[in-house]
Amino acid sequence: MLALSLAKSTPPVSRVFISLAFGLLVFVALEAMAEQAASSGGIGGERDTRHRVGLGDSRENYESSSFVTHSEAIVPLVLPNTVLEEGANQGGIHEALEFRLGLPPLKGGLRPEEVALGRALFFDRRLSANATLSCGMCHIPEQGFTQNELATPVGHEGRSVRRNAPSLYNVAFRENLFLDGRESSLENQVWSPLLAANEMANDSRAEVIARIAAMPEYGHQFANLYEEGLTERTLSLALASYQRSLVAGTSPFDLWYFGAASGDGTTGHSGNRDSSEHRGRLARADFSPEAEKGFVIFLQAGCAACHTLESHSAMFADGRFHNTGVGFRRENADKQPHRVQLAPGIYIKPSVSLETEVLSDQGRSEVTGNKSDRWRYRTPTLRNVSATAPYMHDGSIPNLKEVIAFYNEGGGGDPQQDARIRPLGLTASEQDSLIAFLESLRAPSIDLLAQQARAGGIGDLR
Ligand code: HEC
Ligand code: HEC
Repeated sequence: MLALSLAKSTPPVSRVFISLAFGLLVFVALEAMAEQAASSGGIGGERDTRHRVGLGDSRENYESSSFVTHSEAIVPLVLPNTVLEEGANQGGIHEALEFRLGLPPLKGGLRPEEVALGRALFFDRRLSANATLSCGMCHIPEQGFTQNELATPVGHEGRSVRRNAPSLYNVAFRENLFLDGRESSLENQVWSPLLAANEMANDSRAEVIARIAAMPEYGHQFANLYEEGLTERTLSLALASYQRSLVAGTSPFDLWYFGAASGDGTTGHSGNRDSSEHRGRLARADFSPEAEKGFVIFLQAGCAACHTLESHSAMFADGRFHNTGVGFRRENADKQPHRVQLAPGIYIKPSVSLETEVLSDQGRSEVTGNKSDRWRYRTPTLRNVSATAPYMHDGSIPNLKEVIAFYNEGGGGDPQQDARIRPLGLTASEQDSLIAFLESLRAPSIDLLAQQARAGGIGDLR
């Protein structure tokens, strides 16, 4: 949107320059990701290897013209012997909703038919102005409902989007939406990507409604579900409803800490249990001793001050905005690379200077207008974090190992950053334990959510 408004207000020659600069920036971003990937064994290198898709493309040897991609295609995650229950085609919310240990109560019920309708719309590319881009292409189910391979997504006609796409797991429990918290309701939120010129690029809400109204498969579904049929309001209700169904708790950590599934009659977290009791529960709950060690370090290092736990649930996020120095680091990064890699083995030397101001991101201060909120971003949840690389608001950190190294070094080094972000002096093995803990926050049901995302027909597939 920023790019477009700038382009409108500048003379034609600069416009050409700006679009060129934008194109190049996309490539610069891609190249930076590729380099990080090559040095870290792949953006998705930390993902569970049992995952059949979305492992990422390490782009090793990308600089050679004989490069061959190792990306796995995005295919449905249905395993050979898996028979999806009938409910799955209706949105399949029942199974997934069982994985809620450790999460707060879900407010308001979910209607399977409404979830199913929202799901079909979420993956329907015809919701974008030129019928190319669905919500599900930036929030990819097999890639943690984000994109594992891009730091920041590419939207309508290749336009760059300045922030990393947040994962939508457990979005039902988020009070502030967007990384600067400028929105608070999922129902209102949907209009932002639908209308943003660099995302789905529709001109108006009415245009979106008119287009969907012309699709034969949706009319009766809206009519069955809502008295008023298809309207701006009911479209947003359906999309929000699907997103609310993406709950993903009952991780190994939850089984250990909140304990309901231990089957031994204990009621879960007490904080006073002795370590022998801990050990017994660990074996049952698949929460490794190393992850437990990591949890202790997590508490000692002060991570839980912002990535919070409550007594009956834990979102690992306080709903507030903090400056960890990522914005500062981004602003100070070298913005003028000498050469840009366009494709395997093909480089160009940009003869223009790359204007990056248009991608500037001030964080929370854009919403409040307070200077002191510059570069503050919403604390992200750490649930399922091992599935949602890359990290931070700009996707600048490719894997958890480097996130932990970032914190261990004291954050991004902004003199204004939160005082709690300071050098930690953790040993390599302590850092590994911290990662094991973060991995233990992964819900087993996320594969099910990906499966259900692809179950049943999507309008575009007729
Ligand atoms: C071009 C890629 C792209 C498309 C298409 C897209 N999104 Fe997003 N989405 C993003 C990015 C990037 C953000 C973060 C923006 C920000 O914080 O300023 C985001 C944020 C969100 C959020 C807020 C999540 C949070 O944690 O605060 C929700 C919800 C969401 N998108 C849902 C949708 C829905 C529904 C659609 C389809 C109508 C959609 N998105 C289409 C990229 C995309
Ligand atoms: C002062 C509050 C604060 C503290 C303390 C803190 N964090 Fe964060 N954390 C944040 C914020 C804010 C972000 C997002 C920054 C951004 O988007 O640029 C973040 C991002 C992250 C991410 C990336 C998540 C994602 O989806 O992008 C991880 C992982 C993380 N923190 C783990 C930790 C660990 C481990 C510790 C302790 C060593 C810690 N944090 C301490 C506030 C904090």
